[in-house]
Amino acid sequence: MAISLANPTFLFSKPSLFLRRHCFRRSFTLSIPFSSSASSSSSLSSAVSTDKFRSQKWRQPVVSVLELGGVKIVRQDVVKDDPTNNVPDSIFSKLGMQLHKRDQHPLGILKNAIYDYFDTSYSNKFNKFDDLCPIVSVKENFDDVLVPADHVSRSYNDTYYIDSQTVLRCHTSAHQAELLRSGYTHFLVTGDVYRRDSIDSTHYPVFHQMEGVRVFSPDDWEASGMDATSYAAGDLKKCLEGLARHLFGAVEMRWVDTYFPFTNPSFELEIYFQEKWLEVLGCGVTEQEILRRSGKTNNVAWAFGLGLERLAMVLFEIPDIRLFWSTDERFTSQFSKGQLGVKFKPFSKYPPCYKDMSFWINESFTENNLCEVVRGVAGDLAEEVRLIDNFTNKKGMTSHCYRIAYRSMERSLTDEEINELQWNVREQAQNKLNVVLR
Ligand code: DAH
Repeated sequence: MAISLANPTFLFSKPSLFLRRHCFRRSFTLSIPFSSSASSSSSLSSAVSTDKFRSQKWRQPVVSVLELGGVKIVRQDVVKDDPTNNVPDSIFSKLGMQLHKRDQHPLGILKNAIYDYFDTSYSNKFNKFDDLCPIVSVKENFDDVLVPADHVSRSYNDTYYIDSQTVLRCHTSAHQAELLRSGYTHFLVTGDVYRRDSIDSTHYPVFHQMEGVRVFSPDDWEASGMDATSYAAGDLKKCLEGLARHLFGAVEMRWVDTYFPFTNPSFELEIYFQEKWLEVLGCGVTEQEILRRSGKTNNVAWAFGLGLERLAMVLFEIPDIRLFWSTDERFTSQFSKGQLGVKFKPFSKYPPCYKDMSFWINESFTENNLCEVVRGVAGDLAEEVRLIDNFTNKKGMTSHCYRIAYRSMERSLTDEEINELQWNVREQAQNKLNVVLR
């Protein structure tokens, strides 16, 4: 298997724990070595395959109408039985949750702390948007921010499409162009973003981002004697270093040159935290073409984007990204409004249960598709899906063995229910992905 890992310098691998594999930096492919060890975990042979289990109602009931930023959304408009649609019910059920708008939730607490920084540093000059509808056009999500036509993020494997022209935004950058066109010059956009992805403790198909944009006019940079781009880049770095200190205290920081389609030059900010360099955000000087198309021909701007979960996991010591969605009081009661960085105390660690499945893949097989099947069946009980063996036989057929870890954050799982989940995963992998189970 080859997975695409974003790498800022292109020359060395820096597979950060938190790296999103399809982000908008230049990406390259990296071969992952496989463990050839035989599985020691329990296999499906112990699963009980009765019809009772096959016909289980393992899906959560889904509310079918919701309102988002004044827009009424009906399930049938989002989840469609159509080849141009790849949105499952499990994703529809996340629309409208808006964790970032809950003042007592770690994501809301973090968002408010960032707002405080901008309000104080810029005398409330930044307009804040946290209720923009996550359903956007392909044009807004990709074209308007100059994402190349062949960029991997546009694929059905990486992005949730409602139809060929409409997606669930995969980044808050989707709103940049429209807000610029509407005349805003200082703004922050916070929202839920959606990406098809692998399953592990730092990846979840819905997460939250904040985007920031500041536009300058000639008066701003002319007096400085600097050229417009250097002026904007200098201001950007000063602003974001201040933000990092506001959130993390007096930390060591470094800037890394990188690539994004929407900015030039582009940078990443890293901080040295708990003995590791942690990537905090991506940013840069906005491409002139974006400004020009938004009617701003005599300006320069900077932009940044940051992932709220990634920062909140570090600041609050939250070990698994699924916990953000937990309604268990033992999680929710640990956080209160305005309390940034209260350390999360795990209430209990329930044992994981591992199940392996091996199958012959076909040409269209992707790990993201398998993960979608696993999430569709097991929801948040799926903790990790990991390729543990891979070989091609003399006939050219390729076999993959995946190890699925099931674990609830809230309770012990019974053998019976895990076996049932695994049975359903196998059946659906066979039916939906056309793999041949071994
Ligand atoms: N949209 C980028 C992503 O999701 C993050 C980002 C990087 C946003 C640089 C920006 C920016 O506005 O300037 O990976």
